[in-house]
Amino acid sequence: MTTDTTNPLIFLMGTTGQTGRLILEDFDKKPEGVRIRVGVRKEADLQRLRAEGRDAVLFDLDDPRTFGPALFGVDRMNILTGYTIAMTHQTKTVVDAAKKAGVKHIVNQGVFAADDATDSKFCWFALVEAYIEASGIAWTHLHPNVFLESFLSVSRPIGGTFSTFWGENRVGYVALHDLAAVTAKVLRDGPERHGSKDYYLSTETMTSSELATALSEVLGRDIRYNSLDAADMEAHFKKGTIAVEDWYARSSLDLLTQFADGRMGYMGTVKDDVPYLLGRPATSVRKWAEMHKTELLSFVDQPQA
Ligand SMILES: NC(=O)c1ccc[n+]([C@@H]2O[C@H](COP(=O)([O-])OP(=O)(O)OC[C@H]3O[C@@H](n4cnc5c(N)ncnc54)[C@H](OP(=O)(O)O)[C@@H]3O)[C@@H](O)[C@H]2O)c1
Repeated sequence: MTTDTTNPLIFLMGTTGQTGRLILEDFDKKPEGVRIRVGVRKEADLQRLRAEGRDAVLFDLDDPRTFGPALFGVDRMNILTGYTIAMTHQTKTVVDAAKKAGVKHIVNQGVFAADDATDSKFCWFALVEAYIEASGIAWTHLHPNVFLESFLSVSRPIGGTFSTFWGENRVGYVALHDLAAVTAKVLRDGPERHGSKDYYLSTETMTSSELATALSEVLGRDIRYNSLDAADMEAHFKKGTIAVEDWYARSSLDLLTQFADGRMGYMGTVKDDVPYLLGRPATSVRKWAEMHKTELLSFVDQPQA
């Protein structure tokens, strides 16, 4: 397989989101040897990125008419879809377009799934991964476990208490800047080095109680946890306090149910490819909390609702 290895054009999507933003930052820090094109769906983001002097194009996963101009001349791309069942037809159509455009390598942001996973969300990912592989384009699948950044959003420690939906079970985590750095590294190196590879990012496991201890130590405050389960998450969905579309909500409940009854116990295991890709250890939970100390403390200092 021949690719433009000297100065490949890399297409990034999802750069206004929490992972994609960090992937773009990684390339900004080390721009040598690659060209970056960014695809966004909102006009305001397009104008902002162009004002920054970037090669930015209109790109909407729900509008395949935007794919041709966005992927023209692209050598390598990431696929990063949002929290939606639409990821299935979105990935199908964008992979078809990548094939027409002559893209040589797709790096796909997936989940930490077992091959025979039966919960709906992980099945959607298995289907899109199979479709990417069948396209004939070189592929690399990334398999991150739960993002530590969840403790800055859905599980933020308001008033010193965070909520998890795993009961007392051990869960694997990954820091998003590790995931972003791995994505950027794989895109930089290209398909000769990383084609047909699955990389796993479940870099440290903790129970909620261990997490509370780690956060208490790092933040110097008494951090507690609220142990919730699938039924509690369903109540959040019904109340609208966690806003997701219906099919995605159902898939999350399916996952929590299967995790609780033991079918997805692997989510509580370490499988850490970060050192192989970055030549350094993955970021520990405590180190991550140090890095986000100010933000975490701002939640701790908020009154509980
Ligand atoms: N949270 C976890 O613990 C976890 C763990 C493993 C895997 N994952 C996977 O990670 C992925 C989400 O990553 P994330 O948290 O970084 O996402 P995110 O912060 O929600 O960002 C999603 C990005 O996708 C863009 N986007 C959404 N719909 C689009 C469309 N129709 N066309 C073009 N762009 C669109 C958004 O752009 P706008 O700004 O325009 O909305 C945004 O930039 C999902 O596949 C999820 O399953 C999550």
